[in-house]
Amino acid sequence: MTNKSKHHFETRAIHVGNHSNIRTGSVSPAIHLTSTYEQDGLGRDRGFDYSRAINPTRQRLESNIATLEEGKHAISFSSGMAAITALFQTLKQCDHIIVSRNVYGGTYRVFDQVLSNHGLTFDFVDTRDLNSIESSIRPETKILFLETPTNPLLEISDISAISSICKEHNIIVAVDNTFMSPYGQRPISLGADIVMHSGTKHIGGHSDIISGLLITSNKSLADQLYFIQKAAGAVPSPFDCWLLLRSTKTLSLRVQQSAENAKEIAEWLTNQPIVTEVIYPGLESHPQHKLAKMQQLTPNGDVIYGSLISIRLKDEKARDQFIEKINIFTFAESLGGVESLVCVPYDMTHGSVPDDMKIKMGITPTLIRLSIGIENVNDLKRDLKFALQELIVSE
Ligand SMILES: Cc1ncc(COP(=O)(O)O)c(C=O)c1O
Repeated sequence: MTNKSKHHFETRAIHVGNHSNIRTGSVSPAIHLTSTYEQDGLGRDRGFDYSRAINPTRQRLESNIATLEEGKHAISFSSGMAAITALFQTLKQCDHIIVSRNVYGGTYRVFDQVLSNHGLTFDFVDTRDLNSIESSIRPETKILFLETPTNPLLEISDISAISSICKEHNIIVAVDNTFMSPYGQRPISLGADIVMHSGTKHIGGHSDIISGLLITSNKSLADQLYFIQKAAGAVPSPFDCWLLLRSTKTLSLRVQQSAENAKEIAEWLTNQPIVTEVIYPGLESHPQHKLAKMQQLTPNGDVIYGSLISIRLKDEKARDQFIEKINIFTFAESLGGVESLVCVPYDMTHGSVPDDMKIKMGITPTLIRLSIGIENVNDLKRDLKFALQELIVSE
């Protein structure tokens, strides 16, 4: 198959990086499970010398992910957190970073407890508000790190408007696109400089891999990141790269179905009186519903609101009973897999964020996050109905 960049997303997802084996014809390419490579003489390798630096399976994954995010280069890591850390290893002491205020708790933790010890300064800002961004910019601001939608409050920031502001100030815009996946949002096409993914989520999609990815079209940034990948060494195993390549083949189907399920469930939840609040970008009640409609588009141009829903119950007793009764949903951290999950961000994903900060943002102990999978939507609704009904009965 030639000219793959001209093909549609779904076709590129299956074919880029996945050539059948020349010698055997095996349609699924081999995994290069090797740490080192035979060299033909001193200074005469065959393009490969050591797998921390370069590996054919990893290269195939990186070409696949780059095309899906509409970037030129992808750099893969052993986890989402390793990818974020690598991005900030491109900075120097005293550099300043602006961050979306309710980013994933682990992102907050690495900024607050690791990278700030190395001389980087972070400001957590409500990036929905362009004025707050402008007033936080300093001469030493180097990166604006956006999460949109945020985890778990699903706050949405305007990637295109923020990128325009940052270009004027020579600030790199990095977007954690984990929640939408490249099928649901492509920040580089909206003006961002770099995209980050926890590949653990939608891209892996089966809750069996920990992975991280950075994608950019900026060659000099890509070169720095390839260097950090090799020098710091948080690389993914060839087997994980192969699994991820297998997963992206079905990314569009999985993300589409989980988002359709989520929309139906979110609308249904708004009619359940026992649920005091439903947060979902596809609901007109969501404060950035209009922005979501413009920004969150599939590669075919259709609006997609994602597969995450956050709900609030009236008190902690109700929360605990709900968790106890829910059955098809698994009580676990993470999101973006084929199976539906439920978690309490206050204690779980955001456990490392100070309590007063969580409460100020609205991450309360009764906030429950649902990651909707691709099970039959009627079964999921029945499961939720059962768990919620038990609350009504016990009132
Ligand atoms: C939005 C977001 N970004 C980054 C991460 C970190 O990724 P990983 O767990 O793969 O290190 C997570 C993990 O939950 C996440 O939800």
